[in-house]
Amino acid sequence: MATKVMISLPDEADYAVRIGAGVLDALGRNLRSFERFARAQDVLVITDSNVGPLYLARTRKALTAEGFKVREITVPAGEPSKSIDVAAEIWSAMAQLSLGRDCLVVALGGGVVGDLAGFVASTYMRGVPVVQVPTTLLSMVDSSVGGKTAVNLPEGKNLVGTFFQPSFVCADTSTLASLPEREWLCGCGEIAKSSVIDSDDFFFWLLEHAQELAKRDPVTTEEAIARCVVFKADIVARDKTETSGVRECLNYGHTLGHAIEACTGFGTFSHGACVAEGMRFAAKLACDFAEHNAESTTNANPDAVAEFAAAQADLLDALGLVPLAYEATPEALLSAMKHDKKARGGDLRFVLADDIATWRIRPIADDLVLSALTRAR
Ligand SMILES: NC(=O)c1ccc[n+]([C@@H]2O[C@H](COP(=O)([O-])OP(=O)(O)OC[C@H]3O[C@@H](n4cnc5c(N)ncnc54)[C@H](O)[C@@H]3O)[C@@H](O)[C@H]2O)c1
Repeated sequence: MATKVMISLPDEADYAVRIGAGVLDALGRNLRSFERFARAQDVLVITDSNVGPLYLARTRKALTAEGFKVREITVPAGEPSKSIDVAAEIWSAMAQLSLGRDCLVVALGGGVVGDLAGFVASTYMRGVPVVQVPTTLLSMVDSSVGGKTAVNLPEGKNLVGTFFQPSFVCADTSTLASLPEREWLCGCGEIAKSSVIDSDDFFFWLLEHAQELAKRDPVTTEEAIARCVVFKADIVARDKTETSGVRECLNYGHTLGHAIEACTGFGTFSHGACVAEGMRFAAKLACDFAEHNAESTTNANPDAVAEFAAAQADLLDALGLVPLAYEATPEALLSAMKHDKKARGGDLRFVLADDIATWRIRPIADDLVLSALTRAR
């Protein structure tokens, strides 16, 4: 039995996220059940060089069985494919295939393929529909929902992109069987983040089921993905285009996380492992502020904040997201954080949590960040 989550966003058509083992095989049937695609013909599947050999045949079969005419483009696996050059190659290929406004793009892969294909679809002929078929845990719990698309520039990640919601998301958990452990842990970092920001219910459920998730138990995995999708849909519904500030909570753990990725060289540690490290650091900062009550805007009880930090550490440990042994000086980390596009004006802005589901954005002066980084090592 698959799980279905409906996403309702302001001024957008509702769309469904189907989660479960085998839902990929029903992709064509599902699409035909939507009035919009009842008579659609042309489908372009965009995938990468790791995912294509594993799941393209299944995808093609599911689509051709329902009469879709399927074309395919495979890009090299990895972040460099999220570029304007690769996007331009795909736009040209689409034009050469005479794909019109009635075509449909299917993004089969992780967040790289999802962001790239979403960007291409949102811009080709001023927008053709995109269906996300995420195949990494991270893309199932995060990037396939919410409508952010992007390519990178030499100057930075995700600097060009659009907000463009998918028409359907098909998260087949059976595809996760081939996911390398490092990519699994990457998704677990985002799941942990979502649970901390969301609710006691999600956090303590995850704490209770962390060992099962670490062992990729299918029932736990499906529920964790569904909980994350519901959480993200709620945040995005309140801040679809990242303007009201609500969506900033999704950056919990990311300020230091991105800096570790930049300082250690992208790819040395997985994104999720760096986010987990950033969550540990954010909890330390929250403890610092609670101890110096005069500086605290929430008057949080230091013992309660310390208890939360310990519970969060237990969760990360149980998921296998152990503290990272990375080489980077506090100064280098600070400099990398200052370059992050989320730093506005002078002070760095951190998402801090005093407790589960109790977050706020906090500007923090450089000297306090440096001293906390020094003490954290
Ligand atoms: N749009 C958003 O809201 C959003 C949110 C978070 C992250 N992102 C973006 O997502 C990207 C990272 O996504 P990712 O972590 O999925 O990385 P990815 O797409 O690079 O996938 C990771 C690796 O796993 C391989 N892979 C994918 N599925 C597989 C499977 N089932 N079996 C075996 N191998 C498989 C890929 O080929 C790749 O080598 C980044 O570019 C990031 O900026 C976007």
